[in-house]
Amino acid sequence: MDALDGLRAKYLTAIKDADSEDALEAARVAAIGKKGEIALKMRELGKMTPEERMTAGPALNALKDEIMSAVSAQKAAFADSVLRERLASEWLDVTLPARPKAHGTLHPVSQVSEEIMTIFADMGFDVREGPQIEDDWHNFDALNIVPEHPARAEMDTFYMAPKEDGTRHILRTHTSPVQIRTLETEGAPVRFIAPGRVYRSDYDQTHTPMFHQVEGMVIDRDITMAQLKWTLEEFLKAFFEVDKVELRFRASHFPFTEPSAEVDIRCDRSGGQIKFGEGNDWLEILGSGMVHPKVLANCKIDPNEWQGFAFGMGIDRLAMLKYGIADLRSFFDSDLRWLRHYGFSALQVPTLHGGIGG
Ligand code: DAH
Repeated sequence: MDALDGLRAKYLTAIKDADSEDALEAARVAAIGKKGEIALKMRELGKMTPEERMTAGPALNALKDEIMSAVSAQKAAFADSVLRERLASEWLDVTLPARPKAHGTLHPVSQVSEEIMTIFADMGFDVREGPQIEDDWHNFDALNIVPEHPARAEMDTFYMAPKEDGTRHILRTHTSPVQIRTLETEGAPVRFIAPGRVYRSDYDQTHTPMFHQVEGMVIDRDITMAQLKWTLEEFLKAFFEVDKVELRFRASHFPFTEPSAEVDIRCDRSGGQIKFGEGNDWLEILGSGMVHPKVLANCKIDPNEWQGFAFGMGIDRLAMLKYGIADLRSFFDSDLRWLRHYGFSALQVPTLHGGIGG
């Protein structure tokens, strides 16, 4: 079997020395391909005597197997080295410092929304959302705003094109419809805030056709106006980061609350800058009241068993007051210089212990 030893040595070396997939394939074909040397030897088996064949046959098969496994091992080694080369060329130094200029900033509305949610979450409020395209029932009727009520006109509603049955959707004029949607689906008790976009056809220094409100609602078995007052005081102290605030509840009217109050906060504007909790001025900051029994009944909640308070305020307005922004329209101009100046770092997440402001 010297001849076979010679073949073994020749091809195992050729396989080991193959420096490319092509060279490896050529060595494989030359050894065990159809016309390869080992295949030719196998053909000679037929001419042998049975005794010779008994030893030569298994020896040739064993050599063929040996060569096949040497080829696969070499193939695997090639694949490994390709991977190693790729890994060596495609590396990233994760210890490099971050790019020095981060261009994106958080819009003040996003920042203030986060601040508001953080403060109310601490008081056990959930966050609820509703659609911006609403129907009359949720935006008006269920909130006790009857068709002839002046509030419908006051709110300068944007109407969508009428459907075939004559009804038409609207862009919600306030976040109050989220009260209805939440009560309808969850029943009582509830304690949530609902921040989001609202729309009214209005445009000047303090009005834009789209702006942001946050609604708040608490319904339970024995909720009083005193709790409304405490909740708002705690919120405003945390939001404006002052030790005390003084609120003035002014009797007002909203169809969905009875009694209703507009809330003013004591402030000082003497220094050209507004300060809260001191001074001799009052600034109107939100609308609120005890939820009207009809609103509860409209949501299939028994007003004899449940009651609560609700409030609504403008997020953009709160942002203007806290961060000294004069013109509401600038919020929506997408002016990069403005965004860089008033924007917030995405890494400065407001927390109650770390500070609510940016
Ligand atoms: N929806 C009112 C508005 O847009 C704000 C408001 C006032 C909401 C009183 C309330 C509330 O929940 O109780 O002007």
